[in-house]
Amino acid sequence: MSDRAAHILDEVRKYHQDSKDDRGFVPGVTEIWPSGAVLDDEDRAAVVEAALNLRIAAGRSARKFESVFARRMERRKAHLTNSGSSANLLAVTALTSPQLGDRRLVPGDEVITVAAGFPTTVNPILQNGLVPVFVDIDLRTYNTTAERIEKAIGPRTRAIMVAHALGNPFEVAEVAQLAEDHGLLLIEDNCDAVGSTYQGQLTGTFGDLATVSFYPAHHLTMGEGGCVLTSNLALARIVESLRDWGRDCWCEPGESDTCRKRFGYQMGTLPAGYDHKYIFSHVGYNLKTTDLQAALGLSQLDKLDEFGAARRRNWRRLHRGLADVPWLLLPEPTPGSDPSWFGFVITVNPEAPFQRAELVDFLENRKIGTRRLFAGNLTRHPAYLGREYRVSGELPNSDIVTEHTFWVGVYPGLTEEMIDYVIASITEFVGAHR
Ligand SMILES: Cc1ncc(COP(=O)(O)O)c(C=O)c1O
Repeated sequence: MSDRAAHILDEVRKYHQDSKDDRGFVPGVTEIWPSGAVLDDEDRAAVVEAALNLRIAAGRSARKFESVFARRMERRKAHLTNSGSSANLLAVTALTSPQLGDRRLVPGDEVITVAAGFPTTVNPILQNGLVPVFVDIDLRTYNTTAERIEKAIGPRTRAIMVAHALGNPFEVAEVAQLAEDHGLLLIEDNCDAVGSTYQGQLTGTFGDLATVSFYPAHHLTMGEGGCVLTSNLALARIVESLRDWGRDCWCEPGESDTCRKRFGYQMGTLPAGYDHKYIFSHVGYNLKTTDLQAALGLSQLDKLDEFGAARRRNWRRLHRGLADVPWLLLPEPTPGSDPSWFGFVITVNPEAPFQRAELVDFLENRKIGTRRLFAGNLTRHPAYLGREYRVSGELPNSDIVTEHTFWVGVYPGLTEEMIDYVIASITEFVGAHR
């Protein structure tokens, strides 16, 4: 690094310190966000350094992030994408690749998923002409169960795609076993659960593929970004091809002939020797990220353990503080799991003398940010009316979540003072409605 670049980065770190908001916490005035990025001077310097080097496309940092993150997540391969939704799209689309032969999913095949969740866990199923089979969830864990999934398996069922709800692992070992027993493929949407474990094993390592989001609300951020993880090298090649326009070649930008037979292929009905860089084996996309994002991701990765510890600490403080408040159903980790929580989910007892909306309004007026368990029951949204899907059993808990559930934050940017204010505010509201 040149002296001038080092000087600029020093100034950037100072700028970061100078621009910190040190007004302190003022109850009812300071925003208590439900989620957000926690960015330090090194993060700011990492982005500026990438910008100084004009690393505007995916390059050195993207490749480094992929290799470091794959190791960290105990998978052989990680492929960066421009969002978690894109990662989900790639993961599901990969299952339709002709390169999987008889295992490939074809239009009309079913994928079991959860009705109450984030839309882009489900959308790639529909976008690929596949049929979602919705199952219900449990209250408290907000996850489905292996039992529900087993009951949902039908003659056309070929895969399972489920998210670890707000960081809480679903029974992923049992579901992976079920998938193996029934010859199904399993995708873990791990967008909200980086660092969570089930039976001592990291989530994202049980399925054929797993996905991650690096949007600011998530455990690590790149601004926008995501990633597909797998240890199956054939699936990894398919994901890479689909991400990179559908090309067959795997050379990085600026590289040529890493396979040493760039002009030695004959594929499709192309003439022999057609440049491998321009042979397309999938109907692909371009869902790549940039080095500016990856540089930020690398810098954030250093703090992953610290972030996970803060999320767990904040969740425990809320749980302890709200344990005796009536009418509230508090969340519970799935037995056998150690969640790196995304949020603290509360369901207002339907019999309570107040509505969820009243409590949420009260909190929002105090600048305490709240969120929904994403879409609630997706089948009730206009986007899914008239679409082809199947519901296994009924969805009463997904409906309860739609009507009665919300969550507050646990992200590492929250202080004990803030958490205590959230506890005091909820306690005060409920106390006034006995
Ligand atoms: C479970 C789940 N899957 C997928 C996504 C999509 O991630 P992104 O916002 O990066 O597209 C989210 C977003 O919060 C999510 O919570």
